[in-house]
Amino acid sequence: MVEEALAGKVAIITGASSGQGAAEAKMFVAQGAKVVLTDINPSGQALAETLGSNAVFIEHDVSDLTSWEQVTSAAVDAFGTIDVLVNNAGVHRPGTIEVTDLEMWDFHYRVNQLGCFLGMRAVLGIMKAAGKGSIINISSGAGQDNIPGYFAYATTKWAVCGMTKLASSELAPLGIRVNAVLPGIIDTPMLHGTNTAERIAFYDTIIPLGRRGTPDEIAAAVSFLASDAASYVTGAQLLVDGGIG
Ligand SMILES: NC(=O)c1ccc[n+]([C@@H]2O[C@H](COP(=O)([O-])OP(=O)(O)OC[C@H]3O[C@@H](n4cnc5c(N)ncnc54)[C@H](O)[C@@H]3O)[C@@H](O)[C@H]2O)c1
Repeated sequence: MVEEALAGKVAIITGASSGQGAAEAKMFVAQGAKVVLTDINPSGQALAETLGSNAVFIEHDVSDLTSWEQVTSAAVDAFGTIDVLVNNAGVHRPGTIEVTDLEMWDFHYRVNQLGCFLGMRAVLGIMKAAGKGSIINISSGAGQDNIPGYFAYATTKWAVCGMTKLASSELAPLGIRVNAVLPGIIDTPMLHGTNTAERIAFYDTIIPLGRRGTPDEIAAAVSFLASDAASYVTGAQLLVDGGIG
């Protein structure tokens, strides 16, 4: 871990109560950032308390426009500005196109796609005024590949890559970088909560590096993109997948 790589930066991380978002929050604070953890699940409050005065938690549904206004106001009130947004919150359920009904479609669309769009829009004014910022959108290997059986989920993750590309070119003149991280098979509650043991065993056979990734390995990639070390990186789709893609 690069000590103080994020010194002085203020970051919002969504979906920070669990898995990769929680790992990112811990790593960001360890690297000198001040972090606003948000999640629809209030358990992130306890995590924020363990991280000390450089972390606060806000209960937040990323698909709700009004609550984004509360999050950005709270970030500025607590820490003065917003330098980094990590659109990490996500939901995942298996299902082919044939079994995908409107409820299933909306469930993925509202969190994974609309939430990412609302997040980028919410921080835009503050980053534009500052003339700098870094937005990291968490897509998935399923957002650049043809993986059957996850129709609604994969559709939203392709959309996250598309929005990242479009936003990166629109916002580059404002000094705002926008990148996507595409995790592979990462050991988190999402992986185990929404896949059968047989499916996970299959995944284990297709990973060239021979093992699943850890949340910290995704957090390291996100930290790099948030940091000034990535000052010339925008519009990237960074696969962190042990070589699958
Ligand atoms: N685990 C994997 O193998 C994997 C692979 C590729 C991509 N991803 C992506 O990584 C990101 C993090 O996933 P994870 O594996 O850490 O899963 P996770 O389930 O551990 O964490 C996801 C978090 O998002 C939160 N969340 C869900 N709906 C929300 C909403 N409406 N508003 C705010 N927060 C909400 C959940 O409460 C949870 O804390 C997701 O975008 C996911 O799609 C995960």
